[in-house]
Amino acid sequence: MIRDERWKGVYTFEDSPYLMEVLTELRNKNTDSISFRKGLVKLGRYMGYELTKTMEFEEVEVETPLERTTGTIAKDRKNVVIITVLRASIPMMEGLIKTFEHARVGIISASRGKPPEFKVDIDYIRIPDIKPEDTVIITDPMIATGSTLLSVLKELENHPKPKRIIVLGVLAAPEGIDRIKKAYPDVEIFVTKIDRELNSKGYILPGLGDAGDRAFGSPNLI
Ligand code: URA
Repeated sequence: MIRDERWKGVYTFEDSPYLMEVLTELRNKNTDSISFRKGLVKLGRYMGYELTKTMEFEEVEVETPLERTTGTIAKDRKNVVIITVLRASIPMMEGLIKTFEHARVGIISASRGKPPEFKVDIDYIRIPDIKPEDTVIITDPMIATGSTLLSVLKELENHPKPKRIIVLGVLAAPEGIDRIKKAYPDVEIFVTKIDRELNSKGYILPGLGDAGDRAFGSPNLI
């Protein structure tokens, strides 16, 4: 993973040929919705795997059938809460829980209004108990204007403060990262790549289109 020098706590996975290959398949407009969904599941799983490298490890004693030795456990891996922002996050969450099988999962349904305000309405929210030792991973594939994530982060203020809050996405626009980091400097952001900019409709360029529509086979309305 590579730290982006423009912000503190923002990382990309441009150094991972595998993740870049999956991203390239997602970007391709000819990728069908089954392959698109599978790609999101893969990213959730392998980005989750990369995240474990940033987590606390603990040395433990282990007894093999032959003798005693030392081993390692990633102790934070068991203290994870995944917040899934409907709907494009669902396949990413499916992948993430393959890495974090103990995770408690929260669901938020948020819809983004029309430009230029991009007003966000949250109409369903269920968040499990959050403990001080937890790492909260918010999955939102496309960090565009950042408005949805700002609403989710505001909602999290009503819950106990976790050890870390991580936003895990496929792509981000610099505008969205700026807004999130200004309001929540301690929130960490991990994406495969940071794209160039947003267009007037709030889509990321070059991007991959509307992640929800592409994953679930809705007609393309862009
Ligand atoms: N949401 C998407 O699905 N795609 C974008 O480019 C921006 C927001």
